Amino acid sequence: MESAQRKMIVGGNWKSNGTVQSIKDLVNDVLNKAEFDTERVEVIVAPISIHIASVKALLKENVKVAAQNVSETGNGAFTGEISAEQLKDFDVQWTYIGHSERRNVFGETDAQVANKVAKAQSVGLNAIVCIGEHLEQREAGETNMVLKKMLDAFKDSVKDWSKIVIAYEPVWAIGTGKTASPAIAEETHKYIRSWVKENVSEEVANGMRIQYGGSVTAATAPELISQPNIDGFLVGGASLKAEFKDIITAMNNSESTA
Ligand code: 13P
Repeated sequence: MESAQRKMIVGGNWKSNGTVQSIKDLVNDVLNKAEFDTERVEVIVAPISIHIASVKALLKENVKVAAQNVSETGNGAFTGEISAEQLKDFDVQWTYIGHSERRNVFGETDAQVANKVAKAQSVGLNAIVCIGEHLEQREAGETNMVLKKMLDAFKDSVKDWSKIVIAYEPVWAIGTGKTASPAIAEETHKYIRSWVKENVSEEVANGMRIQYGGSVTAATAPELISQPNIDGFLVGGASLKAEFKDIITAMNNSESTA
């Protein structure tokens, strides 16, 4: 299967940003004005949890809403947590898991990521699982080893790989303005796809959507998306701006990567 058969997927990660008004403006002025073919591009945005309801209500049908995080527990006495069951009950179909900031700021471990993936899978929630290396690890030539460890850690939690998207987000590229070059991103995505082939199956590897994240802008998106193993983006800062519409357009208009 060629990459052209994989539907491109772009996520806006709004992180802990926005007010009721600014998010409303973003939906009305940017997302609801984006024009794209839903057969080619899937668009998902992740507001903070208390904004999910209003964003869902305001958005046109062509953009989906994701949670930025999900609990590794079920329902019960777990103050401050939102369970996979509750997301599903609220008709939220997507969650991010293991974002770099969850791992590096809040100390989320590979074991917790694996538990969260298992919870998402147990209710049929789609998960974008994030992995990425630190700068020192890349400079030491350890990137593939680091990514392998992160991938190995949640592998056994997955029963249905069609509900998994992998986001490669090098820590050194997040919020730094240092987008990975298309060559570096492509080489790393290729490694991730080879891991899927080796550890799951060729069929799953061919169908796996692998997003790149880290300082993606409307200027860097076109060349990145033209790489055969890059199937979309996870966008932070630029997803809070009108520029996000241009990133969606760049994907929609990209040459087929077959
Ligand atoms: P930036 O696009 O702001 O670098 O953030 C990337 C990111 O963390 C998306 O999840």
